[in-house]
Amino acid sequence: MSFDIVKETAANPELTKWVNDMKARLDQKMTYGVKKANEVDYMPYSTENGQWKKTDIGWWTNGFWPATMWQMFRMTGKELYRDEAIRTEKMLDAALANFKNLSHDVGFMWLIHSGVRYALEKNADSYDRTLFAAEVLAGRFNPNGFIRAWNGQGREGWAIIDCMMNLPILYWASEVTGDPRYKLIAMKHADTSMQAFVRPDGSCNHIVIFDPMTGEFLDNPGGQGIESGSSWSRGQAWALHGFALSYLHTGKQEYLDTAKRVAHYFISQVSDDWVPKCDFRQPKDPDLRDNAAGNIAASGLLEIARLVPECEGRMYYEAALKILQAQEKTCADWTEATPAVFTKCTSAYHDIPGRHIQMNYGDFYFVEAIGKLLGEKLLAWYPNRED
Ligand code: GLY
Repeated sequence: MSFDIVKETAANPELTKWVNDMKARLDQKMTYGVKKANEVDYMPYSTENGQWKKTDIGWWTNGFWPATMWQMFRMTGKELYRDEAIRTEKMLDAALANFKNLSHDVGFMWLIHSGVRYALEKNADSYDRTLFAAEVLAGRFNPNGFIRAWNGQGREGWAIIDCMMNLPILYWASEVTGDPRYKLIAMKHADTSMQAFVRPDGSCNHIVIFDPMTGEFLDNPGGQGIESGSSWSRGQAWALHGFALSYLHTGKQEYLDTAKRVAHYFISQVSDDWVPKCDFRQPKDPDLRDNAAGNIAASGLLEIARLVPECEGRMYYEAALKILQAQEKTCADWTEATPAVFTKCTSAYHDIPGRHIQMNYGDFYFVEAIGKLLGEKLLAWYPNRED
């Protein structure tokens, strides 16, 4: 029997009160976020002076807003969230039409809202959008065993750990079409990632550069972390959560073992105050944090908790709660001073204007985690599953 995060939560009155309080606060804040989103003609991502900040339609984070709307719709039943999800899903067609500019981030951009809408409503356009996005991702596969991350000459052999979180759109495509090719590509990439990205101590590289002709490992630059060999916390969170999802979709035990290894490392690094540093190997000053890493990891830890046997689950569950509660207590803005919630997200260690900003996916993973604690069944990364 596996660990039951919903039963555990329901059995604890203080925790149940906190989770219900979060649901009410999210409802209030997201209603305000929708109002502000309807004042502009672009997709909400970050914020500036109390407004949503302008974003290019092809930006990789643009699926998270409609995805948050579906999570809120499921949590509250309020049509305003469904309407906003559908409005912004259509807005994103401009990015799909310009597909040559898309990167490997199409899982983030479509599975978690178009895939969810298709599961809920069998909408044919949503199916087409999600499958088209999966084709784009499959088309980036290099037969040496990895998915190319970004565009641009000279980056043919670049892969990044974040891609682990894009693989679920390939598993989805195999589920809905019955064609195993997509799943096989995802598993090849996951196998390569276990070898080339995850280090023996459970920390991970952000970027690995392969020779695109031979697949030989060439380099591992620091990427969004501080330097080569450092430990960018959001990269660790993508790995922890992404490997758990690959296990969920395939049942391959090594993926769960890898997710657990990264989780043990993550917990060991975050447990001083449960708000992740931007890079776990950064110097003391500046004290850079990343709430997005925290919420991605917390939601992933809840995923691991319910995948492992009952006697193992508590550690992952309790660590997830510690992160969610510490981040909410110290970094959440529930007022109308700004349309987003979390205030200490960091885009990359060396991106100075991108330090301690708001990012829509910092909020998305918090909403997702609260939904999991409340027993939400239809989730973004496996919209076809009801178990
Ligand atoms: N996938 C890019 C990032 O996490 O910033």
